[in-house]
Amino acid sequence: MNKTKVLYPGSFDPITNGHMDIIERSAKIFEEVNVAVVKNIQKKSTFTLEQRVEMIEKACKHLSNVKIHQFEGLTVDFAKQIGCSTIIRGLRAISDFESEMQMSLANKKLNDELETLFLVADGKYAFLSSSIVREIASYGADISELVPENIVEDIKRRFNDK
Ligand code: COA
Repeated sequence: MNKTKVLYPGSFDPITNGHMDIIERSAKIFEEVNVAVVKNIQKKSTFTLEQRVEMIEKACKHLSNVKIHQFEGLTVDFAKQIGCSTIIRGLRAISDFESEMQMSLANKKLNDELETLFLVADGKYAFLSSSIVREIASYGADISELVPENIVEDIKRRFNDK
C-alpha cells in the first residue's frame, strides 16, 4: 500500500465547489489523490456515471496529481485494487458526522488496514450538496458560484435536455 496515495470516493451527482475544496486541499497534502465515482445501486443518480466522471475530469484538469476513476462494489475493495490505504472524506457539519463515522467504522470492519481521514469543509460550503445544485439548476437559477466554472454549462444543458 502506498501511504501517500489517497482515495476520495463519492457519488458526485454532480461535483460541487465543496467537493473541489476537499480535492484541492488533499492534492496539496498527498502525492496522489484518486477521486472515484461510485456506481451506487442504492441511490438513483441524475447524471450518468460517464457524465459525472467527465465533469470531474474537466473540473480537475489543473490538478496534475489527481486521477479520476469509476467503480462498482465496495469502496474497500476498490481502495485495495488501486493500492490506497487511506480514504478521504469531507465533514461539512455535525450532521455529516454520524453517518461518516458509521461508514468509516464499517469500512474498518471490512478492512482493518484502511484508515479514513476527515477534512473539515470550508465554512462557506457548509450548506452545499449535489442535491442543492440539482434543485437550483432544475429551476434554471444561477449555479455559477456552486460548481466549477467549466462545468456550469454542462449542468445547465443537461437540465434543459430533460
Ligand atoms: N461538499 C459538498 N457536498 C458534499 C461534500 C462536500 N465536501 N461531502 C459530501 N457532500 C454531499 C454530496 O454532494 C451528497 O449530496 P446529495 O445527497 O445531496 O447528493 C451527499 O453529501 C453525500 O454524498 P457523497 O459524499 O457522494 O456520499 P454518498 O453517501 O453518496 O457516497 C460513498 C459515499 C461512495 C463513499 C459510499 O456510498 C460508498 O462507499 N459506497 C460504495 C459501497 C460501500 O462500500 N459502502 C460502504 C460499506 S458500509
